[in-house]
Amino acid sequence: MTVPVVILGAASFGGGELLRLLELHEGVKVTYMVSRSRKGACWSDVHPNLWNRARVERFVDRVDWQTLADHDRIVVFSALRHGELAAQYSELETGWRAAGILERILLIDLSADFRLERANCGFVYGLSEWMADDLRQARRIANPGCFATALALGMLPLVRHLDPDHLATFGLTGSSGAGLTPTDRTHHPFRAHNFQPYQPFRHRHAAEVDRMLVRHARPADWSFIPYSASWVRGIHVTIETCLPRPLADGELTRIYEGSYPRSPFVHWVGELPGLLSVVGSNHCLIGGAVHGRHVAVFVVLDNLVKGMAGQAVQNLNLALGWPEDRGLERLMGPYPI
Ligand SMILES: NC(=O)c1ccc[n+]([C@@H]2O[C@H](COP(=O)([O-])OP(=O)(O)OC[C@H]3O[C@@H](n4cnc5c(N)ncnc54)[C@H](OP(=O)(O)O)[C@@H]3O)[C@@H](O)[C@H]2O)c1
Repeated sequence: MTVPVVILGAASFGGGELLRLLELHEGVKVTYMVSRSRKGACWSDVHPNLWNRARVERFVDRVDWQTLADHDRIVVFSALRHGELAAQYSELETGWRAAGILERILLIDLSADFRLERANCGFVYGLSEWMADDLRQARRIANPGCFATALALGMLPLVRHLDPDHLATFGLTGSSGAGLTPTDRTHHPFRAHNFQPYQPFRHRHAAEVDRMLVRHARPADWSFIPYSASWVRGIHVTIETCLPRPLADGELTRIYEGSYPRSPFVHWVGELPGLLSVVGSNHCLIGGAVHGRHVAVFVVLDNLVKGMAGQAVQNLNLALGWPEDRGLERLMGPYPI
């Protein structure tokens, strides 16, 4: 029997990507796509790449939870904007309790509402490769931010093994990172053919990375400058540091390969990775360059997949005790785009 899936905020990019990925996942069936703004529209009116099956199914603005009461497990993804799930959370739990399904719900939130400890209501932080033990059996998961995913995957091995005094990090993201609603900074005419930094030293994902560093390595002195790039999908992060000593031949490779030995999705490629290797897939590629005591590490991933919906599916698999790559194992991106 497949596990039913409900997606809240389903008209979002996150909702569309979840639907695209879950159509390839044999363990689940998307049962409700919930959208307040697009109630009654066909799924394919909003997510045109999914025109086939999605042509006949329609968005709803509420779920009759009782209709799911026969299932042992029920998965709810929330792709709502920041603050929206936290605002609805107690009402949702009341509905699940009334339907007798509270204990059977696995909730995976894509937003930042429950990522940090101070807001944590029993949510496990879903950085899959580093939190897998906690994610198995989890019932509430806070999926990481897209930049936080790239930064943490790249920085944790460095900080853990090489003890840098300071790391300077730079990240470029495409316009889909800003979500559906255009702003002065994200609207296409302002962004295409432009290139500029934003929120230097104070991006909100930094706190997520700090938390992972404390838990899996040590607190580190590091800075982050994000940039708005003109492409649509994909994140490219550079991590640069000067170490207390020069690295031995092959040492960086050993550290990164040793940090992700069995990971289906995080790969040390040694060279200089580019976005087209990962866009559309759940893979994260890491490469690097060494010059004496100077080290640069480069991380690429798709913000909508490994940085959001793909990692959420990976976390669903971990939480339900399925192979971590179920439904994602053959997903590769297009080339060229
Ligand atoms: N985009 C990324 O790269 C990325 C990466 C990681 C995490 N996230 C997080 O994942 C979640 C989904 O992100 P997204 O970029 O796919 O979607 P989004 O554009 O932020 O929209 C998400 C949903 O929020 C509701 N919404 C949109 N505009 C709204 C408004 N002006 N006022 C109130 N509600 C509004 C809509 O819900 P209805 O469908 O119900 O109308 C929409 O489907 C967000 O919390 C985001 O921070 C995004």
